[in-house]
Amino acid sequence: MAAGVGLTPEQLEAYHRDGFLVIQPFWAPSTTASLKTALESMLASFLPPEKASVFTSEEQERTADEYFLGSGEHIRFFFEKGALDAGGRLIVPKEAAVNKIGHNLHELHPAFRAVSLDCPRVTAICRSLGFVSCIVPQSMAILKPPRIGGPVLPHVDGCFLYTVPQTVVGLWWPLEDCTKDNGCLWAVPGSHRAGVARRFKRTADGKHTEFEPAEEAPFSLEGAVPLLTPAGSLVLLHHAVVHFSHANTSDISRYAYSIHVVDGTAEWAADNWLQREGGAAFPKLF
Ligand code: FE2
Repeated sequence: MAAGVGLTPEQLEAYHRDGFLVIQPFWAPSTTASLKTALESMLASFLPPEKASVFTSEEQERTADEYFLGSGEHIRFFFEKGALDAGGRLIVPKEAAVNKIGHNLHELHPAFRAVSLDCPRVTAICRSLGFVSCIVPQSMAILKPPRIGGPVLPHVDGCFLYTVPQTVVGLWWPLEDCTKDNGCLWAVPGSHRAGVARRFKRTADGKHTEFEPAEEAPFSLEGAVPLLTPAGSLVLLHHAVVHFSHANTSDISRYAYSIHVVDGTAEWAADNWLQREGGAAFPKLF
């Protein structure tokens, strides 16, 4: 794909038909390698939490909420289930413990900024999706460490981020080759036509999160396909397409980087979990 060129009519048609689109290759191997190196370096310099014996489980939950809810303008580390003991202390090596890093790599980290906010090809993709203006509210690195990386249950991204009207699109780049063994992405073609039935949002006091409705019927996974994407591919995900991944049962990690974009002319929901301090604006692509 040439610099600054967006989706072809055929790609756009496939995206609207299936609710997702794989473009490969998108990044050059050198770009993918430099992003992976950046993540390895962040992991190496990251200081794991100290033994936090003063926390009660209730206090720990409250702190975890604040750490998560305040992560929109920071680079913060989130752990695999079971990587911490009841006192908040790591019980596995830190390289194996981190589930994801978020949610502001795209603004704060030079290597990730270069492929997110300062990339003409990303801008062109978003323009061709029909965005009038384009905002990037969040970014994440998803690490899926070997043998420990857990599954991501079937979900739609529009449950977690919401605008009126709904305009969320996910851009997901594998930084390593994805296989069924290391927990590749799976998607259900056409599932986006069912829309979004449930939201994950802040509680009325703004201090916690909840699902509404609390319970949800399981998604149909009939026809789900594995996206066996080589490192450097781009996967576009419609906000209502059902997708998931299995646990990483291999000896190889499955690093990926993703951003979500929304149209700047749509209203950012005040009860989205993701908010900036004092209602500050998210970075704008165009
Ligand atoms: Fe997702």
